[in-house]
Amino acid sequence: MGSRLMISMIGLLALAVILDGPVADGATTFTVGDSLGWTIPPNNSMDYYQSWAANHTFEIGDSLLFNWTGTHTATILSNEEEYENCTKNGIILATSGVTVRLPQNGTSYFVCSVGSHCEQGMKLAVKVGNGIAPPPPPSAAPTLQVASFAATFLSSIAILLFTHL
Ligand SMILES: *[C@@H]1O[C@H](CO)[C@@H](O)[C@H](O)[C@H]1NC(C)=O
Ligand SMILES: *[C@@H]1O[C@H](CO)[C@@H](O)[C@H](O)[C@H]1NC(C)=O
Ligand SMILES: *[C@@H]1O[C@H](CO)[C@@H](O)[C@H](O)[C@H]1NC(C)=O
Ligand SMILES: *[C@@H]1O[C@H](CO)[C@@H](O)[C@H](O)[C@H]1NC(C)=O
Repeated sequence: MGSRLMISMIGLLALAVILDGPVADGATTFTVGDSLGWTIPPNNSMDYYQSWAANHTFEIGDSLLFNWTGTHTATILSNEEEYENCTKNGIILATSGVTVRLPQNGTSYFVCSVGSHCEQGMKLAVKVGNGIAPPPPPSAAPTLQVASFAATFLSSIAILLFTHL
């Protein structure tokens, strides 16, 4: 009887470990820069955030927490060229403590849009999963609009022709 209870307790314990472990729910929140946070990297270490990113593995559903003091932003850029250029306009998140979820595989780009902070190394590119972005959704809406406009136009001509025959 005692050993039976023991076995089921071990079973419960194992279940708890599985539920707690990284397998059941892999979503992790990473604090960008760890204890340094999100700032101009010290010692002119331009590649600080690249090094930080390389030391972690990011999967779909994980989140990045940007913590800073002073005047910075976490600005989301849309591609590598903007990232290389330190483009200042993107989705600007201006409040420290902001969490950004990584919703899909591919590379996500972040910079600080303040002054020359990005040029000083305050920039982060994060490879998510296999790094392969899913194809963009078909831009069906404008095509459809154009198509239906054309269809309306053509059918009104047809009606015109028909009524004038
Ligand atoms: C910057 O340099 C100082 C002094 O050499 C050192 O203590 C510190 O760890 C360095 N910081 C980083 C992020 O490398
Ligand atoms: C990344 O890991 C390497 C090797 O452990 C270490 O030297 C480096 O400081 C780490 N970079 C960051 C930004 O934590
Ligand atoms: C990046 O900079 C180059 C050179 O200045 C420019 O030709 C290009 O249009 C810029 N691209 C973006 C996305 O800002
Ligand atoms: C995302 O990348 C991971 C590898 O880290 C892969 O297992 C998974 O199938 C990819 N997901 C999609 C939707 O492509």
